[in-house]
Amino acid sequence: MGLSYKMRLVLVCISIFAMAGVGFLLKNLLLPDSFGVYGHFRADAIDEAAEVPIRHGTNDSCFKCHGFEAKIHRAGLHRTISCEFCHGSYADHVVEGKKTGTLPVKTGEQITTLCLRCHNTEIKARSEQVIKTVALPDHLRDQQVKLTHNCNQCHHVHAPLKYINRAKQITGLMEKG
Ligand code: HEC
Ligand code: HEC
Ligand code: HEC
Ligand code: HEC
Repeated sequence: MGLSYKMRLVLVCISIFAMAGVGFLLKNLLLPDSFGVYGHFRADAIDEAAEVPIRHGTNDSCFKCHGFEAKIHRAGLHRTISCEFCHGSYADHVVEGKKTGTLPVKTGEQITTLCLRCHNTEIKARSEQVIKTVALPDHLRDQQVKLTHNCNQCHHVHAPLKYINRAKQITGLMEKG
């Protein structure tokens, strides 16, 4: 092209200004209104997050209606475990203080699978001091039972040593108390 050096410089400057102008317009057009009110984010996001319905409850929220389970659970070694880990969310069960839905209750082999999510020796991430683990089928062999036994046939799901301690008391293997 036969443009002079000066002309090219002017063209470059014009296009830079044009791009800056378009950028500025787009920024004003596309940025949400509440952006930057408090910082580099949408101020409205805070209200939106606060409005998300609460799905979970503490164990205390379950105890209100489940006095029977509460008594057993509180007295056993599973007292630190969340009811929801094994049963699902509060919001699927109770709305505004009333039972509205049915929570899943695992049975048979599903229970063994559930227990092994925390108690499988294969999980090396936590030490035995934090959580006791068992290996299958060794644990069942040690008890001299059929390998088809599920965990809840000996362990109470809500207080895992309840039956076992009771049996020990009855057979005199353990001091009462
Ligand atoms: C480690 C997992 C686990 C935890 C933690 C747990 N549950 Fe359960 N729960 C089960 C399983 C498995 C069953 C069914 C099998 C059984 O009763 O042996 C059950 C049964 C129940 C049932 C009876 C359901 C029926 O229709 O028979 C209720 C109610 C219940 N749990 C409430 C609770 C509450 C409330 C908590 C917290 C205090 C809790 N559970 C904590 C695993 C658990
Ligand atoms: C407003 C009272 C109320 C609260 C709070 C409540 N439940 Fe229930 N739940 C019931 C009633 C009523 C039943 C049916 C009768 C029964 O099994 O005791 C039930 C039944 C269950 C069952 C058996 C399956 C079913 O849905 O019928 C499970 C498991 C259960 N609840 C777990 C929980 C857990 C876990 C929590 C806390 C996250 C909880 N419940 C909180 C009232 C409540
Ligand atoms: C969410 C993880 C979790 C699940 C699921 C779970 N447990 Fe536990 N369990 C624990 C923790 C934590 C303890 C207390 C620490 C300990 O003693 O290992 C415990 C304690 C125990 C103990 C006593 C161990 C001891 O100290 O002598 C037994 C037995 C047991 N659980 C069996 C079961 C059975 C059976 C199931 C299935 C119904 C189950 N657990 C499901 C976490 C879990
Ligand atoms: C036939 C009965 C029986 C069955 C089935 C059974 N257990 Fe046990 N379990 C026991 C006895 C008995 C103990 C020893 C308790 C003690 O030493 O006080 C025990 C201990 C445990 C311990 C503590 C181990 C330790 O190092 O102290 C855990 C964890 C455990 N069982 C989990 C499970 C899990 C998970 C299942 C299902 C895969 C299961 N058990 C099935 C009878 C059984």
